[in-house]
Amino acid sequence: MVETAFLGTGKMASAIAHGLIAARILSPDEMACLGGNGTSARRLAADTGIRLAKNVDDLLARADVLVLACKPQQFALLDPRLCELTAGRLVLSVLAGFTTERLSTLFGKARGIAAIMPNTPAQVRAGITAWTAPESLANDDARTVEKYFGALGKVRRMDAALMNTVSAASGSGPGFFFEIVHAFERSVEKTGLSPDDAHLFVRETFIGAAKLLEQTGLSPEALRNAVTSPNGSTFAGLRVLEHHGLHNIFEEVVRAAIARSVELGKM
Ligand SMILES: NC(=O)c1ccc[n+]([C@@H]2O[C@H](COP(=O)([O-])OP(=O)(O)OC[C@H]3O[C@@H](n4cnc5c(N)ncnc54)[C@H](OP(=O)(O)O)[C@@H]3O)[C@@H](O)[C@H]2O)c1
Repeated sequence: MVETAFLGTGKMASAIAHGLIAARILSPDEMACLGGNGTSARRLAADTGIRLAKNVDDLLARADVLVLACKPQQFALLDPRLCELTAGRLVLSVLAGFTTERLSTLFGKARGIAAIMPNTPAQVRAGITAWTAPESLANDDARTVEKYFGALGKVRRMDAALMNTVSAASGSGPGFFFEIVHAFERSVEKTGLSPDDAHLFVRETFIGAAKLLEQTGLSPEALRNAVTSPNGSTFAGLRVLEHHGLHNIFEEVVRAAIARSVELGKM
């Protein structure tokens, strides 16, 4: 039986493997995995029933697809024969900063490569995955990418030139969101709520507001206007955000994240 092989079995690979099994896209006996010197591969195999490979040769012996999911800085430590061993296979890399150009060079004998950017909500099968691949990627392989990562949330193929901007939006976006939640919790705590109540009220409000945004299909501006009475308390708070230039701050935040992605992509 052909297998989908996972090289690197940490948080992201586990999210993908669990997502594939839960969505019944692959069964555990259609997958194999291999980690580094730690325990993640053994844990993933024990949790799911996925085959634990002995080494890279064993991992790729029956593989049709390789999901490369170690940390970018661990790539240099991988078996130097990977290029040979992935000949004729589809290589899906989730390594941040690894462009399609670089992957095409590293896996010159693969039948196709794709650079995939899931985001951390993938761990709870939500969020969005962006991916990009050379034009030459076969339609069947493109469908495989959409099917695999569609098991984790939304998925969208993007132009390679836009991946750094997408990275600022969906890759870094959860980090920006959590920082906002944290700042909001701290401020209601400072102004009277207990830490427990601050967590409860802020988190439930943000989760509820996100559901409202999703389920009504209304724009954030429309929903903001609906909660803002002229000269009311929300209005007073929004004026402070305006005074401090929230929109300009976010533009700077996004530009900084894009600039850093460009730098990292050159390393
Ligand atoms: N976490 C996210 O939400 C997210 C989002 C987008 C993209 N990514 C990308 O996903 C990749 C993995 O991130 P992660 O958060 O899942 O990292 P992680 O939890 O630290 O997992 C890294 C994995 O790589 C394995 N590994 C280390 N050295 C190895 C080697 N020489 N050969 C084979 N496997 C090796 C580790 O195995 P041991 O346990 O045995 O050491 C571990 O299973 C990164 O490239 C990151 O850019 C992650």
